[in-house]
Amino acid sequence: MKKVIVTGGAGFIGSHTCVELVAAGMEPVIVDDFRNSDERVLQGLAKIIGRVPKLHRIDCTDEKALDQVLKVEAPDGVIHFAADKAVGESVRDPLKYYGNNIGSLVAVLRSMAKHGVKDIVFSSSCTVYGDSDQLPVTESTPPAGAASPYGYTKVVCERMLRETSASDLALRAVLLRYFNPIGAHPSATIGELPIGTPNNLVPFITQAAAGLRERLTVFGNDYDTPDGSCLRDYIHVVDLAKAHVRALGWMGDQKAPLCETFNLGTGNGNSVLEVVRLFEEVNGVKVPHVIGPRRAGDVEAMYADTKKSASLLGWRTELSLADSLRDAWRWQLALAKGQK
Ligand code: WQD
Repeated sequence: MKKVIVTGGAGFIGSHTCVELVAAGMEPVIVDDFRNSDERVLQGLAKIIGRVPKLHRIDCTDEKALDQVLKVEAPDGVIHFAADKAVGESVRDPLKYYGNNIGSLVAVLRSMAKHGVKDIVFSSSCTVYGDSDQLPVTESTPPAGAASPYGYTKVVCERMLRETSASDLALRAVLLRYFNPIGAHPSATIGELPIGTPNNLVPFITQAAAGLRERLTVFGNDYDTPDGSCLRDYIHVVDLAKAHVRALGWMGDQKAPLCETFNLGTGNGNSVLEVVRLFEEVNGVKVPHVIGPRRAGDVEAMYADTKKSASLLGWRTELSLADSLRDAWRWQLALAKGQK
């Protein structure tokens, strides 16, 4: 597979995946309307890969615009990242999530069908498991019912892909269930750029450590876990990006129709307080924090069984939680420098 359309390619995971696609000799073509990403990522990409990837500024729910892109680019496949992903916001504004996350996949699949593009890698999420009591979760762990409209859009999109790949379209689809992507490229030229107050733990930690936030609130320490705070599977975004290259390679050897799901995590569950402590230790900075009430919608623990992605994709994470937290802090410092 040579040329790949990367919808949402200007985003956190999308941009890091573009870097790994180029490193693997492929050509990413970014499709993004920058509603949730920042133009600065283009300069960062140019510094790492020597050029800004080809870019089409379009809304992925706009099928006609997508038709134009697929006609002009004639890609070998699509990686579909473009979606809204804030759990809390999705509860406040479910229609935005149903319209965009489901609408964009419908438009992408319709455009692919019209242009004979058969391969799609889909950005899914461990949120489809809901609050599972079977840990670590395997790909066949029954979804316990997504706890938010965001999580439910991923459940619906996965089903759409299962049914569409098995239809006359005979697609090859790979569904990648991300756990908690964190960190930044070691060059500190691309990383997470949350707009406004970060929803996620690690960007909040880096901003609190940098004095941009008064303090981190740890959402609950009364869970049934070793230190009372929630467990998550934090995966370095570069490891996650490399998994996409492996998935494309593996998919190329499979017969259509195909619809295969993979967990992308480290297989470890770390608590919020462990992450805070390790961040302080590896970076030699303090993270001002207090314990607060639980956050609605949080699950107590979630981490991956990684056997399937190891055996079929030959992929394992190579970077540690300490590497992720070090790279996240270096990125925060680079941002502060860039803003001076
Ligand atoms: C992690 C832990 C919080 C902020 C996210 C995405 C979801 C999916 C998986 C991609 C929880 C705690 C957080 C804070 C805190 N990713 N926390 N104080 O909720 O696991 O889900 O990753 O698909 O889309 O939303 O990640 O980083 O929000 O929270 O104590 O200020 O950190 O309670 O236990 P989450 P998160």
